[in-house]
Amino acid sequence: MKKVLITGVAGMIGSHLLDALLNQGIYEIIGIDNFSFGKKDNIQHNLSNPRFHFYPISVLDFESLKILTKDIDIIIHLAAVKKIGEADSSMETLRVNNDGTEFIYETAKMWGAKVILASTSDVYGMSTDLPLREDGDLLLGPSMIRRWSYAVSKLNCEQLAFAYFQDFHVPTVILRYFGGFSPRSSFSWSGGHIPIFINAILRNQEVTIHGDGTQTRSMAFVSDIVNGTILSMENEHAIGEVINIGNDEELSVLDTAKLIHSLTNSKAELKLKFLPFEDIFGQYKDIMRRIPDLTKAKKLLGYTPIVPLKEAIEKTINESRARLKQE
Ligand SMILES: NC(=O)c1ccc[n+]([C@@H]2O[C@H](COP(=O)([O-])OP(=O)(O)OC[C@H]3O[C@@H](n4cnc5c(N)ncnc54)[C@H](O)[C@@H]3O)[C@@H](O)[C@H]2O)c1
Repeated sequence: MKKVLITGVAGMIGSHLLDALLNQGIYEIIGIDNFSFGKKDNIQHNLSNPRFHFYPISVLDFESLKILTKDIDIIIHLAAVKKIGEADSSMETLRVNNDGTEFIYETAKMWGAKVILASTSDVYGMSTDLPLREDGDLLLGPSMIRRWSYAVSKLNCEQLAFAYFQDFHVPTVILRYFGGFSPRSSFSWSGGHIPIFINAILRNQEVTIHGDGTQTRSMAFVSDIVNGTILSMENEHAIGEVINIGNDEELSVLDTAKLIHSLTNSKAELKLKFLPFEDIFGQYKDIMRRIPDLTKAKKLLGYTPIVPLKEAIEKTINESRARLKQE
């Protein structure tokens, strides 16, 4: 039985990936998470599974990592500090994402493991060269804007991945995830606009739209992100490659709020509040469109997203509604 280590296993993607890999029955899994963002609830149902071993440690704990990664075949490195606001410090993002990733590659080098690295569509920055291709140029904003620390840290992770691959022959695959969501997404900003809108509409609260809502996003249901990740794990052709994973269906933020409202069958009117970008992001310019080119994922991995956005939203509404009833 192959041994897999998932970092950030209690997070949104990590916990669904854990469910899927345990279901396959061919992996023994070690999961780590420091619960800085993830929830124990997300993995509770798997804690008694004899093929899953959980350790509540940080990826910055190099000494424990060295022990836990012994005999591991594949490390799926998801632990990260995601988007931050202008008022937040970027220190944690830089430390966890950069140092944590370097520790993961060091241990992979030590024990001969393969690493699947979670990168992000944020690295494309403000590029308007759509759809976004893995070999396209990246366009980042000024360094003094803290929000860019996430994209910069993930780009550094990608460079680390290539350095370990080229200099030390650590087999690696870099997945640039585009936005994903599930009923387990955080209702805070880091969980993305869809879970936040669903939560607000189900509670009959105002929905805050950044700007005029004409900016579009291409959002995937988590099962498609998980499938892409699993397809990359055992594929020799993917080694040393950067691959976009997500859904290329595009919908504006405003239309997403309207769609969610109609799918909830709410009798109440949709209450919208528009906030100027500058009030939320300061000098950071919101990205107007972000669509993945999935040609490479299709060719190398045989990957195609299969859950239409409407269906993904319906699933999330249904589970969120059930959760709200229990509150
Ligand atoms: N969800 C998306 O839309 C999306 C898009 C692009 C990229 N990604 C990337 O995918 C990965 C997973 O994202 P997610 O949406 O599941 O995020 P998430 O925040 O739900 O999960 C990340 C997990 O990492 C854990 N973590 C953070 N710091 C840690 C540390 N120092 N040690 C151990 N665990 C730590 C958190 O507690 C959390 O459970 C991240 O690397 C993220 O950057 C996600």
